[in-house]
Amino acid sequence: MFRSQIVGCGSYLPERVLGNEELAKSVDTSDEWIVHRTGIRQRHIAAPDQKTSDLAIKAAEAALASAGIAADEVDLIVVATATPDNTFPATAATVQAELGITQGAAFDIQAVCSGFVYALAVGDNFIKAGQAKTVLVIGAETFSRILDWQDRGTCVLFGDGAGAVVLRASEDTANGARGILSTHLHSDGRYRDLLYVDGGPSSTQTVGQLRMSGREVFKHAVAFLSAAVDEALEANGMTSDDIDWLVPHQANKRIMDATARKLGMPAERMVCTIDRHANTSAASIPLALAEASSDGRIKLGQMVLIEGMGGGFTWGSAMIRW
Ligand code: ACO
Repeated sequence: MFRSQIVGCGSYLPERVLGNEELAKSVDTSDEWIVHRTGIRQRHIAAPDQKTSDLAIKAAEAALASAGIAADEVDLIVVATATPDNTFPATAATVQAELGITQGAAFDIQAVCSGFVYALAVGDNFIKAGQAKTVLVIGAETFSRILDWQDRGTCVLFGDGAGAVVLRASEDTANGARGILSTHLHSDGRYRDLLYVDGGPSSTQTVGQLRMSGREVFKHAVAFLSAAVDEALEANGMTSDDIDWLVPHQANKRIMDATARKLGMPAERMVCTIDRHANTSAASIPLALAEASSDGRIKLGQMVLIEGMGGGFTWGSAMIRW
């Protein structure tokens, strides 16, 4: 039996910062509206020549360095992204080649903003099944490329970035041992029209742009995420008092606060990056994990609950003893 331990984290944000004030010059919005409704103050935007794989590679290199693990030890790469470099091959194949890795498997996962939770669950299950020993799980996005910059209801919400973790198989599965304790994944495709991209290779032969029924998404997000955190607590025989850190997908500060409130968790125990990163989809959770572990907030042995929801709808959680 194996358990997956997170042994390293890394992240990368593109240099260009687009603040709310600057955005308000090109679309009918205001810093006040965006901060009040979402908690977002700025977002990072990839340079024209930066692809999702470029962001992913930088985050992966940082994660490997923080783990002290050489790239050639990696035997599985899972990249969560809804904004791949190309329709195919997988962005993970480019990451693999650029890191100089020639063994093992590499593939992408598409679950939009739940992508990192999905990818983490896949990596964890490969380790538990004995099929991988060292897994790079990456969330990387260039959502700026699929936004309608004239649609104020969506373009103010998203940003670009990447985060990565290194999972390592551990034979210590005793009670109290470090590692991923549970993952829970859900989807319900009946809601797919509430948040989608209006293009694609098989429908329009164009890339398309993001479309969202914001209020509907908001309503479902609060309900599904509250149920997801309850499910994670129950599966592990825990209460919210046992959780040191809630690291939610950073979609909207109001959704995050509502989930924390339902859990009875004080705001100080929730990691929040949305003010600076906006919603980076699959990258938001690993970006937050990298920040809070490198600045010393998340400490070895502490209990970390991650949760996210995205288009599909997809949603899920993971409970991790750090
Ligand atoms: N600036 C100024 N006004 C705006 C803006 C803007 N950027 N966007 C919308 N408005 C206006 C609307 O036009 C509307 O005006 P009206 O009353 O004159 O018609 C008014 O503000 C209210 O619009 P609502 O859409 O009802 O505003 P709401 O409070 O719901 O906030 C928001 C909108 C922020 C999009 C919210 O619904 C939300 O966050 N939803 C969830 C979105 C989300 O999290 N998506 C991602 C989750 S999954 C994933 O991460 C991919």
